Amino acid sequence: MAKATQDLWWKSGIIYEVYARSFQDSNGDGIGDIRGLIQRLDYLQWLGVNAVWLTPVYPSPMKDLGYDISDYTGIDPVFGKLNDFEELLNEVHSRGMKLVVDFIPNHSSDHHPWFQESRSSKDNPKRNWYIWKDAGPDGAEPNNWLSVLGGPAWAWDKHTGQYYYHTFLKEQPELNLRNPDVLKAMLEAMRFWLDKGVDGFRVDVMWYLIKDEKFRDNPVNPDYKPDMPSSEQLIQAYSSNQPGVHDIVRQFRKLLDEYSEKVMIGELYLSINKIVDYYGANNGGAHLPGNHQLLLLPWEVKKVAAAIDKYEAALPDGAWPNWVIGNHDQPRVLSRIGRGQAKVAAMLLLSLRGTPIMYYGDEIGMENVEIPREEQKDPQGLLMENNKSRDPQRTPMQWDASENAGFTTGKPWLRLPKSFEQQNVEAQKKDPHSLLNFYRQLIQLRQKEPALMMGDYYPVLTDGKLLAYIRRGKGSTSFLLVLNMTDKAVDFKPKDRGIRGRVVLSTNRDWEEQELETGSRLEANEGVLARLADT
Ligand code: GLC
Repeated sequence: MAKATQDLWWKSGIIYEVYARSFQDSNGDGIGDIRGLIQRLDYLQWLGVNAVWLTPVYPSPMKDLGYDISDYTGIDPVFGKLNDFEELLNEVHSRGMKLVVDFIPNHSSDHHPWFQESRSSKDNPKRNWYIWKDAGPDGAEPNNWLSVLGGPAWAWDKHTGQYYYHTFLKEQPELNLRNPDVLKAMLEAMRFWLDKGVDGFRVDVMWYLIKDEKFRDNPVNPDYKPDMPSSEQLIQAYSSNQPGVHDIVRQFRKLLDEYSEKVMIGELYLSINKIVDYYGANNGGAHLPGNHQLLLLPWEVKKVAAAIDKYEAALPDGAWPNWVIGNHDQPRVLSRIGRGQAKVAAMLLLSLRGTPIMYYGDEIGMENVEIPREEQKDPQGLLMENNKSRDPQRTPMQWDASENAGFTTGKPWLRLPKSFEQQNVEAQKKDPHSLLNFYRQLIQLRQKEPALMMGDYYPVLTDGKLLAYIRRGKGSTSFLLVLNMTDKAVDFKPKDRGIRGRVVLSTNRDWEEQELETGSRLEANEGVLARLADT
C-alpha cells in the first residue's frame, strides 16, 4: 500500500483552475484577462492554494473560446500581451506559487498559418501536418467517425477535393502528431513556455492525440440512449486512446524532464484502468493523468467508495493520484450534488490521497447559471441538439456585492446570477461559517499535516452508509474521515469497532473536540475529520 513519494510541489500542493475569461477583467471589456488575474493573486495566496492552472490565453479566433489556437507562442490581445504574461509568472513565483498553462497539441485553429498552408494545395509541404483523406464512394466521408460536438468528424475542402478530420469543431482541424515535424513543432512551443518559466502543462484531450493508422470504422454503441451526446452512438475504439499515444506523451515528458520539477497533467475521460496507463512505463508519462471520476459518478457513498478503492488499487507503484470535483467542461459540483453537500464535497476533495485540483468559484459555492439561448457562447451548447452548453459553469467569479460582482466595469461576457449579492468572496470572508472559510481551514490543515498531504490511504469498512477512510503518515498524526453523503442522519458503524478519533474539523461546529467512535451519529450532510486515537 505504501507508495514511494517525494515532496514535489505538484504532489504536496493544491492546484486551482482559473478559467481565464471569467476570473477578473482589468480593462472593462467584460472578459477576464491576465492583468485581472494578477490583481487577484493575493486572494489565491490567502486561500492557500499552491498553483494556478490557467486555461488557454493564446491567440485564437475563439470559436472554442481559446481551445482553437492560431499561434502557439503568443498571447491573445483579449487576455493581454506577452509581457503581461511574464509579469504574471513573476507575480505567481514571487508568492511562492506555480503556474501551469493549458496546452492543446491535438488540434489548432483553422486560422493557424500551418492549416492555411496545409489546405492551400495537396502538395504543400504542410499538407501532412493535418489529417487529409479522399472521399469514400459517392463522396461519402472517409469513415464513420463522429465529431464530439455533433455531426461527422470530417469536413470537405472544396478547393483541394479532400476531407480533413476534426474531433471537435470543423474550425479545429486535427493535427497529425504521427508526423515528426508536427511533434517537433509542439515540443518547440512547449520549450518556449518552459524557457519563460512556466511550471508545467495541462495537456488538452490527451487520449485523442493518436488515431488508428488505418482509420477503421468505429463500432456502434449498443448502449446508446437518445439523451446522450450524438457522438456516443459509436464506441471510439479507433479514434481515441490508441497505443501510439503513449509515445507522444513520453516525448512531452522527456522535454519536461530537461527542466526541474515541471508537471504534466493530462486531460483524460477514460475508465480507471486506461487512465493509469498514462503514467507511462516506469512512470515516464504524465505526472497527473486526469482522474475525473468524481465529476461523473452519482454522488452515492457506495459508488464513490468503490471508485476511490479501485483507483488506489489500479495505481502503478510510485504513481501519484489526483482528484477533481469541478472544471470548465462539467456542470458545477453543487448543481450536481446539491448545496447541502457543499462542505462534504470540499472535505472529500481536500482529504483524499492525491493532488486536488479545484475549480474557481467552487470555494464560494457558485452554481450553474442559466444562460438564455441568445446569450450563449459555448459552441457545444449551440451545436448540440440536447443543450450541453458549458456556459453555466463558466460565469464570472463573484468577488463582491458591487455591480457585476467586482468582475468587470463593463458588460460581463456571460451574465451573473442575482445571488452574487450574497454569494461572493467578500461576504464569505467575513462569515466564519461560510463555505469559503471552510475551504480555507481545510487547506490550512492539509498544508500543515503531513498525513493529509502525503500520507497513505486506508479505507474503513462500514455498513456502507457512510464514506470512511484513514490518512496515515509516517510518524505523524493520522486522521479519520467520516462523510455523510446523504441528507439523513446516519450512525457510524465501522466493522472494526475500535476505530475512533477526536474531531478536529467538522462541517458542523458543535462537534469539535468530541470523540468520533462506533455509534456516533452524523447529522444530515455532515463530514468530520478526526485525529485518529492511536496516534
Ligand atoms: C478539452 C477542453 C474543452 C475543449 C476541448 C477541445 O476537453 O477542456 O474545453 O472544448 O478540449 O479543445
